[in-house]
Amino acid sequence: MDHRVLRRLAASAVAALFALTGCTGGGVVEGRPGASGVRDPFFPKAGNGGYQVEHYDLDLDYDPVGGRLHATAVITARAEQALSSFNLDLSGLQVERVTVQGAGARFNRTGNELTVRPAEDLRRGEVFRTEIDYGGKPKHVTDPDGSREGWIPLAGGQGAVGVGEPVGSMAWFPGNHHPSDKATYDIEVTVPKGYEAVSNGELRSRTDEPGDGGAADAAGGGGRTVFAWRSAEPMASYLATVAVGKFKVTTGKTPSGIPVHTAVAPGEAAASAPVLGRLPEMVEWGSGRFGPYPFSSTGLIVLPEGTLGYALETQTRPVISGAPTGEEGEALVLHELAHQWFGDSVSPKSWKDMWLNEGFATYAEWLWSEDHGGPSAQQHFDAYLAGDTDVDPAAGSDWYAFPPAAPPGPKDISGSPVYGRGAMVLQRIRQEVGDEKFFALVRGWAADHRHGNASTADFTAYAQEKTGHDLKKVWDVWLYGKERPKAP
Ligand code: ARG
Ligand code: ZN
Repeated sequence: MDHRVLRRLAASAVAALFALTGCTGGGVVEGRPGASGVRDPFFPKAGNGGYQVEHYDLDLDYDPVGGRLHATAVITARAEQALSSFNLDLSGLQVERVTVQGAGARFNRTGNELTVRPAEDLRRGEVFRTEIDYGGKPKHVTDPDGSREGWIPLAGGQGAVGVGEPVGSMAWFPGNHHPSDKATYDIEVTVPKGYEAVSNGELRSRTDEPGDGGAADAAGGGGRTVFAWRSAEPMASYLATVAVGKFKVTTGKTPSGIPVHTAVAPGEAAASAPVLGRLPEMVEWGSGRFGPYPFSSTGLIVLPEGTLGYALETQTRPVISGAPTGEEGEALVLHELAHQWFGDSVSPKSWKDMWLNEGFATYAEWLWSEDHGGPSAQQHFDAYLAGDTDVDPAAGSDWYAFPPAAPPGPKDISGSPVYGRGAMVLQRIRQEVGDEKFFALVRGWAADHRHGNASTADFTAYAQEKTGHDLKKVWDVWLYGKERPKAP
């Protein structure tokens, strides 16, 4: 081979190496595109590679009558590699303008991917600011299991709600929509006067303003109200929410002083009162069982009956549809509050790890029952094994269709086994190690992974180490086993 060819080959190998490592040697950044997904086993296009978001600053101007949104998202992120371009997830809506570090950026869209090409490549480690002006009529996203998320109008045209498990948040703001990238949030919502806008975290200000001709004016007779919400603790984007409606708002404090903010659709207010009244006590109880409550506020959003076909553990402020009533309503609210420790603070590394959310939240229902004169967790476990619906009306479900830590596909991440058999896994551990070690494990898990992410493998390793027990049989039979487990 000719010397020059060899030299050219060597030079391009070095260039390739620089591009790979993000190291440039000189002043010129040679970035490469960030990945279009984080290769989640079930939602491979969810999230994006090459950066991690530190903070979202969303400014949403919403007209609940016309259903139109006009918004700006300012995303502060850190580049994890030198980037020539990067992706955000966004479904529907029109993107009007994108800037990166204040300079106009080119962008294009394919499917749910918004690709942004900054004027200048970004250095590895650089903290950069992307501003996106966008708007239109936000829509819902249909999940693999057929349920609806994203942006959903409230029954009776009373407003709308934005929810996002697992991927619906991309229907109302551009972002890195995978739980492995948590960030803090400022969510400012402008709505016509007379409407409430509720979101995650704490309400920093609520300001009435004269109209400015924006989207929110149409229904507000010219006046509008700006609600500024802040989530100072990290949040996975699937837990972000905004609800706009003519809610009845109540504020208070838990016995240990955590601010409570609840918003209830007017038609659900009277029926919701008894269970809502116990919310502060539930949060207090959770702190006793699971360790300190992980966030600086709590609450609940009760939407009109039928808005969503499920409840969601949106951070600090879960969303449910229809008044929670009786024991079932109490268990539902308790379930969503328990997720604040398990799911919201300790979030799954991938959507395959859902049982870490749902198994724990279901187990929390059993524990609440045990601590309040109802059947014990062991009795729930036995009822589930026997399909005894007298002890637990849910015991008749198909808990054994698949192993909780190995759902067959994306349509199964909210399937019954993830909840029921997931909870049974925890009771099996309790049976093996005894109460003292079991509760030390549960509290340790919440404390050691607080505001982080964890996988099933992290949990099984942690459980063995923390309890000093070999739990392999529990994992093999209850967590991963394809067969229906027999009574232990
Ligand atoms: N995580 C919610 C709960 O607390 C359920 C979400 C259901 N979503 C769905 N796409 N099926 O149980
Ligand atoms: Zn749940």
